[in-house]
Amino acid sequence: MKSREKKQVTRVNTLLHGGDYNPDQWLNRPDILADDLKLMKLAHTNTYSIGIFAWSALEPEEGVYTFDWLDTIFETIHQNGGTIILATPSGARPAWLSQKYPEVLRTNELRLKHLQGARHNHCFSSPVYREKTQHINRLLAERYGNHPALLMWHVSNEYSGECHCDLCQVAFKEWLKETYNNDLAALNEAWWGPFWSHTFNSWSQIQSPSPIGEDAVHGMNLDWRRFITDQTINFYQNELVPLRELTPTIPVTTNFMADTDDLIPYQGLDYGKFAKHVDVITWDGYPAWHNDRESTADLAMKVGFIDDLYRSLKQQPFLLLESTPSAVSWHEVNKAKRPQMHLLSSMQMIAHGSDSIMYFQWRKSRGSSEKFHGAVVDHDNSPENRVFKDVAEVGKILESLSAIAGTTRPADVAILYDWENNWALNDAQGYGAKTKNYTQTVQEHYRTFWEKDIPVDVIMKDQDFSSYKLVVIPMLYLLSLETLSRLKEFVAHGGTVVSTYLTGIVDEHDLAHLGGWPKDLQDIFGINVVETDTLYPSDYNKVRYGEKEYELKEYASIVEVKQAEIKGEYLEDFYAHTPAITSHSFEKGKSYFIGGRLERSFHSDFYGEIIKELRLTPVLSVRHEKGVSVQARQSETEDTIFVMNFSEETQVVYFDQPVWDRLNEVELVGEVMLEKYAVKVVTVPLEDNSQ
Ligand code: GLA
Ligand code: ZN
Repeated sequence: MKSREKKQVTRVNTLLHGGDYNPDQWLNRPDILADDLKLMKLAHTNTYSIGIFAWSALEPEEGVYTFDWLDTIFETIHQNGGTIILATPSGARPAWLSQKYPEVLRTNELRLKHLQGARHNHCFSSPVYREKTQHINRLLAERYGNHPALLMWHVSNEYSGECHCDLCQVAFKEWLKETYNNDLAALNEAWWGPFWSHTFNSWSQIQSPSPIGEDAVHGMNLDWRRFITDQTINFYQNELVPLRELTPTIPVTTNFMADTDDLIPYQGLDYGKFAKHVDVITWDGYPAWHNDRESTADLAMKVGFIDDLYRSLKQQPFLLLESTPSAVSWHEVNKAKRPQMHLLSSMQMIAHGSDSIMYFQWRKSRGSSEKFHGAVVDHDNSPENRVFKDVAEVGKILESLSAIAGTTRPADVAILYDWENNWALNDAQGYGAKTKNYTQTVQEHYRTFWEKDIPVDVIMKDQDFSSYKLVVIPMLYLLSLETLSRLKEFVAHGGTVVSTYLTGIVDEHDLAHLGGWPKDLQDIFGINVVETDTLYPSDYNKVRYGEKEYELKEYASIVEVKQAEIKGEYLEDFYAHTPAITSHSFEKGKSYFIGGRLERSFHSDFYGEIIKELRLTPVLSVRHEKGVSVQARQSETEDTIFVMNFSEETQVVYFDQPVWDRLNEVELVGEVMLEKYAVKVVTVPLEDNSQ
């Protein structure tokens, strides 16, 4: 078990509640600004992210600065007992800047130069943009760096996208020269140059991927995505220079995202890399609750997965920096949160490791594309509004739970997730064009642990495996020999590993491993994978495992057993009665291989046995049916357990031991009713809960 030691991520030892506050949209309405202060008290909010898109309010003309409004906001928030997360304004620029310095504009992959407008629409290489952003950041740090209300830096906003301008072409080539030690032959080898005559004999011939040029060289596509991540981090680091210099004790963050349609981590950047450069992980979570394509519990599982991933990136609490108290404005259908959902979804965030519930945004804007986006204060300006009251309720509860801030979620199970793997797999022309679904598959492997209330870390390939009992590695198609040898060491020293079909096919350059399945994989699993079959979506096969048969879809590895034990076999097709599920004892540890994509009940049965064998337990045993999730935060003195009903029915849960209900201040034991979307937050002192 890992340490329960607190990891405080901000200087205030409390849960943050608040959100994006844009007074710069209301500067001609002093009455509104006065109302804000009154309403903030009623909403029980304490922290505000300010200035995210305020560049034109701070520097209306080049070199002309208007900080007075921000001075006033700093003072009034401070006098009201609030703290400020101050943004750097690079996410959107004033028109004068693009007009005078067009090099700051982004160029897309078709080599078309963008116009001024929108946001997140600039070149990350432009020396002018780097200079201008660093300069305004310096002025902000000089002016507010010592202000007692300043809690954290919010650097830019949701960094994303890529630029293909001439400056970026130069930067890409520099990056490649550094990565390949100036050795063009090494690059040609890594990119499999002779294929379609794509060997370069000069660095100057290389251009970034484009649908009107080169986009079939997988090694190049992968390197381009790596470059985009590094170049974005590099731009961010340039923004940090004055902040680190003038405010070395103020933590910095930039807000991460999720792709919302299917609620998977944002794919444009490798957050595993980016995480190393922020002090605190923050993310903007907008799950489409009550949608028409999945159950509430299915969506809750995906939220839990992203939370566990973003928390594990730094192995410390994260901050939910944006969420909506009701609807958003950019889903296909923007449905309001049903009663109780705001509290439930907020408590889920805290349960998985968030030390905050923050909103986009404090006050609904009056015009433009976000005028109908949910906010704490609606156009009615009323504290009697249903959404406002939901927010105030969450605020009060967060105040009563402030001792949770900094507490962690020790886990014995790790599931590995890898951005590069997803990029490479999606790029691969082969297998099923639409069925690879790497992230969704990782989430399916996560599901069983989520349903059985077993804490999980979702880790990167370079994180230390040694503190876990079990590491699950689904579909790790891109596997370097270096990661593989660390994995081998983990199993050799007593760890248990589970892996699946489509693992260990290519190396870090997206070049196929030669000579069959890598030798270390063969040693760990006691098998050789000799072929991968891809099925049409309407095809299926079956696997017998134990006494039962399970449906297989889409992928099946054909396996030759060397020393492993056969635990399951395929039942159909030309590989009927060949091994589908195997296990193997390797040195002090154990491995399991799942050859095909199997239905949910298989995961539940299969992982159920491993959970028993490794004695993996929930933090508190709470008996319940599906749809209820039990998650915990642990401190050195107590466990706080969140029992959440993500179903539309009333559920009965059973507490085998007495617990203290923190929201109602009563003892609970035995049978407890949980209404639709209800949540119980209970505590158990450590001495009563040492399993
Ligand atoms: C993003 C942005 C915010 C706002 C919200 C709306 O997360 O960071 O500025 O546009 O989306 O959901
Ligand atoms: Zn550029």
